[in-house]
Amino acid sequence: MSSIPQEAIRLMNGFRGYQLVVAACRLELPDLVASGPLDAAEIASRTGMNPDAMRRMLRGLVAWGFFAEDSSGRYSPTAISDAFRSDRPGLRNMTMMLSDEGYSLWSSFTYTLETGKPAFEHVYGKGRWEAMSEDPAEAAQFNAAMVETSTRVAKNVVEAYDFSWARSVVDVGGGNGALLAGILRANPHLRGVLVDLPAGLDGAGETMREAGVGDRVEVVEGSFFESIPAGHDLYLLKSIVHDWDDEPATKILATCRTAMGASSRLLVVDRVVPEPVNPDGRDVGTVMSDLHMMVVLGGRERTNSELAALFGSVGLELARDIEMQSDFHVVEARPV
Ligand SMILES: C[S@@+](CC[C@H](N)C(=O)[O-])C[C@H]1O[C@@H](n2cnc3c(N)ncnc32)[C@H](O)[C@@H]1O
Repeated sequence: MSSIPQEAIRLMNGFRGYQLVVAACRLELPDLVASGPLDAAEIASRTGMNPDAMRRMLRGLVAWGFFAEDSSGRYSPTAISDAFRSDRPGLRNMTMMLSDEGYSLWSSFTYTLETGKPAFEHVYGKGRWEAMSEDPAEAAQFNAAMVETSTRVAKNVVEAYDFSWARSVVDVGGGNGALLAGILRANPHLRGVLVDLPAGLDGAGETMREAGVGDRVEVVEGSFFESIPAGHDLYLLKSIVHDWDDEPATKILATCRTAMGASSRLLVVDRVVPEPVNPDGRDVGTVMSDLHMMVVLGGRERTNSELAALFGSVGLELARDIEMQSDFHVVEARPV
């Protein structure tokens, strides 16, 4: 028996375990075994992989609790593997996107730690959004990850926030608009505006049509550093404020404030960093997202008081912090 804690061994193996999950997602293994248990030879044959390598990878996935294995060596799903299925909004697209985006950048973590600057420009010589605008495949992968997460979070948002008072809602930097689509579906009285750069909007029309809300959404190409449509009731910023450090984040909030009327409200949908963080693992998603923002974009997840300070600098005040059945919060701000 080693005196080294199991958790230390799991931590050291994190990057290797993650690659097993990435490969399982690419090969759609969680979907494959969901229709009935399969042995390693069958899984290898159906995916065109090497049988010995596949058997050893499946053993690894069992060790991590991802799949279950029965006494005749057949693999079946668990609640964990179900979270990575392709037929529901879980973690699959985000896992594949983070693998491509994250590995090269996190290998430069020390650069970020030493300089406080994001690694993206250091590694690729250009910013994240510029890179996305030049590569449609990259944009498609990024947008798919956002649609997956925002479709899931939209369900929590419509449960947590009462939209009955509003008539129109603008999704600022809304990407493919999965959050807007979820809100409009649940609120047939609402109309929406979706604002983003062209690469973020690529595929948005289809997302809106599939959600059955295409006739209630106006799609507007534009930058939230310049101007956004004015005079609407609600302005949404989901996973936007956390992308940016304080100066550009303040500019985005100021653009929203300029567009807002006295009765408009702004909803920031982001993770909120608790003070202090809990050491029991429940804050890992929030804290790792904060670090990912630091490494990739120079952004940050914020505490409530940090958000309130940003709001205060542009003539807004924090009205409510609404916790949801997810690690995202709805933080409502109103004009002062
Ligand atoms: C992390 S994604 C969030 C997308 C969406 N709000 C969601 O949560 O599904 C950030 C979005 O900001 C958009 N973005 C980046 N710079 C922008 C700018 N200057 N003006 C408008 N949108 C921008 C990107 O294209 C991308 O869609």
